[in-house]
Amino acid sequence: MDVTPGPRRRVAVLVSGRGSNMMALAEACREPSFPAEIALVLSNRPDAGALERAAKLGIETAVVDHKAFDSRLAFEDAVHDRLVDAKIDIICLAGFMRILSGSFVGRWQGKMLNVHPSLLPSFPGLDTHARALEAGVRLHGCTVHIVTPELDAGPIVVQAAIPVFNRDTPESLATRLITEEHRCYVVGLRLMAAGRLTLEGERVLIDRDEEMAGPSDVLRFPDTGQG
Ligand code: GAR
Repeated sequence: MDVTPGPRRRVAVLVSGRGSNMMALAEACREPSFPAEIALVLSNRPDAGALERAAKLGIETAVVDHKAFDSRLAFEDAVHDRLVDAKIDIICLAGFMRILSGSFVGRWQGKMLNVHPSLLPSFPGLDTHARALEAGVRLHGCTVHIVTPELDAGPIVVQAAIPVFNRDTPESLATRLITEEHRCYVVGLRLMAAGRLTLEGERVLIDRDEEMAGPSDVLRFPDTGQG
C-alpha cells in the first residue's frame, strides 16, 4: 500500500448526505496526534447537509454535481482533478452514493476507504438493514474496507457487530449501527494514515501496537492477540 507513515495525511471525505461519518472523522482529526487531517469535503449533491456541517468547522468544501456532466467518466475526471488540486493522499467515502468506475478506483488504488452498513461480504448494495432483518441474522454490523472496482467488495479493515432483537426495525438497526460506523471509520482511517495496513491477497494485515489500539475498543473485536 502506498500510504506511508509521516506527516498528517491529507484526506478528502466524499459525501452525498447528512455527513455523520464525516463529522466523526473530523472530530478525530482534531486530536493533534491523529495521523490525518480533513483537507476537503466533496459532494456530488449541492444540497448535501454534510457541506454545511463541514463549512461550519472551517473545512474546505467542494461540489462536483454529477448532473452537470454528460458521462460518468467526465464527472469522475472533474472529481479527480479537484482531489489532485487539494493534494489529497487518502479518500474516505462516507455515504457517497455514486458508483465509481474501475478507472477512477485504479487511480486511487489502496488509498480509498468506504464505510458500509453491513457485515460484508453479506448484504452489499442498498437497504442493508431491511435485508438483514429479512434474512433473520442474529448479528448485523458495519464494515470499513479498502475500495476496489467491485462494489462493496474490497479488503476488510475494521468491522463491528450489533445484536438483532425481535423488536428491531430497519430504522432501529440504523440508529444503533451508526455509532459503530463512526468508531470503525476512525480506527480504519487512523490505521491507513499511519501506514499500518498491508495487503496479503484479499486480506488486510494490520500492524499495530498498544498505542494504536488504545483510543478505541473497536479493534478488540477482531483482535485475538495472536496476530
Ligand atoms: C452510512 O450509514 C453509510 O454506511 C451509508 O450511508 C450512510 C451515510 O450516513 N453508506 C452506504 O450505504 C454506501 N453503500 P452519513 O451521511 O450520516 O455518514
